Amino acid sequence: MSEVSKLIYQLSPFVEDCLTKQNRAFSSFEYNYLQEVINQHQIQSVLDIGTGEGSFIAGLASLTPDVNYHAIDIGEDLISIAKEKNQQDNIVFTSCLFDSSFPEKKYDLILARFSVEHMKDIAAFIAEAYKRLKKGGILLVTEYYVENISLQSDTWNIFREKELEFYTAIGSNARTSIEIPKLMHKEAFKKINSNLRHISPSTIGFQPFYELIISYANIYGNIVPEVWTDEIKSIIIAYAENSMHETSSHVEDVLFISHTIGYA
Ligand SMILES: C[S@@+](CC[C@H](N)C(=O)[O-])C[C@H]1O[C@@H](n2cnc3c(N)ncnc32)[C@H](O)[C@@H]1O
Repeated sequence: MSEVSKLIYQLSPFVEDCLTKQNRAFSSFEYNYLQEVINQHQIQSVLDIGTGEGSFIAGLASLTPDVNYHAIDIGEDLISIAKEKNQQDNIVFTSCLFDSSFPEKKYDLILARFSVEHMKDIAAFIAEAYKRLKKGGILLVTEYYVENISLQSDTWNIFREKELEFYTAIGSNARTSIEIPKLMHKEAFKKINSNLRHISPSTIGFQPFYELIISYANIYGNIVPEVWTDEIKSIIIAYAENSMHETSSHVEDVLFISHTIGYA
């Protein structure tokens, strides 16, 4: 099925830095939410699709030691980093592609965090995920959502516009989350529920927020320099560095992520 965007995982040192900062910024509320799902449904087996360098899933695995995790990624470099830095007794990391050839073992919960946006055929992904869930099992997709209607600073608007251009340039979709509930419904998932979360200096702290923006600017500039020129990169990095320290005069810059859940 899906061809994944190859660009996103080829530059593993940049990817690693970005994923680590992203996890630090988002994990406080994401872990609470995931732990609630795991405890409420007595989840025992989890497949994490597109696990990256494994730091996010390792954090969750350490909070839920009785759950068994299988964490996969097509990026061999990323899985090597995961095995070296994020190995835990209750996680098996494997380098492989999730597609129709993936073994039909059944899981209680399938997670896909920031990976669906890079897939070419999301309907096929959802269909294959459905086949690998026990009856009543859960698919939980976490996605980034880029809007460009900010009323905040002009520089922030440039950042968001350039993010949209970046996603388009690498063949990914920064607004996949809008499609996922409909595709789950088509695949006979039940009790589908989706929400958008605000990530802002006020919700996660100034430093984690703007360090993440700097990391995004670096990774975007390294992957698509024709969109993220040196000039754009330095404008955004200077803005983030100033905003990190000038907390009294800040405007509330906001990122969004979505959580969409459906039951097989
Ligand atoms: C942006 S990273 C997210 C990593 C991690 N889930 C996180 O939240 O930090 C997306 C990852 O998904 C992986 N990926 C995308 N589609 C995949 C597929 N069909 N099978 C396996 N890995 C996939 C890519 O290789 C990439 O490392």
